Amino acid sequence: MKIAVFASGGGSNFSAVQKKILEGCLKSSIDLVVSNNSRCGAAEKASLYGIEFFHISGRTHPDPLKYREALLEKLASTGIELILLAGYMKLVPDYLIAAYPRRILNIHPGILPEYGGKGMYGINVHKAVIEAGAKESGVTVHIVDENYDTGPVVRQEKVPVLPEDTPETLAVRVLRKEHDTYWRAVKDFEEGKF
Ligand code: GRF
Repeated sequence: MKIAVFASGGGSNFSAVQKKILEGCLKSSIDLVVSNNSRCGAAEKASLYGIEFFHISGRTHPDPLKYREALLEKLASTGIELILLAGYMKLVPDYLIAAYPRRILNIHPGILPEYGGKGMYGINVHKAVIEAGAKESGVTVHIVDENYDTGPVVRQEKVPVLPEDTPETLAVRVLRKEHDTYWRAVKDFEEGKF
């Protein structure tokens, strides 16, 4: 199965899944990395792995119709069957969800639905968890629907919050857990579990 990863940032989740593929833990391959940011860490990592990188944004394609055509054409011509959002900072357009029904996953650095929604990304999630005095945070992989963080959850892992945690220390522990979670969701998908 051919996978496209959509990423805007460092790309550590992309890298973690790719490593599992190289270790032979998954049958799929990542054949495309898509980003709105041509200078992100994910772009650099794609080049290191020899994976095609596709830069598409409102700048490269100012006309929304052309943007849509270019994105769908690239995914189709690459034979993409599954899309993994990994730190992709754009709302996925409805036409993409229609083209890939139940075939777009996202990883979220917190427990959903409690710690999700618009504005709940990155350090904001960890701040909210600590402010709430929660004893546990976690990692959630869900199917992407038309809204932020609301699609069906397919995998959730807990991460302890320690009394001395700051949002930054919690972020490190959660990210480490993400790296051991996303590939497992892909494996479940490969095995037809959802
Ligand atoms: C991760 O925390 C992920 O949960 C969130 O964005 C971050 C991406 O990190 N959606 P990276 O680019 O994979 O390092």
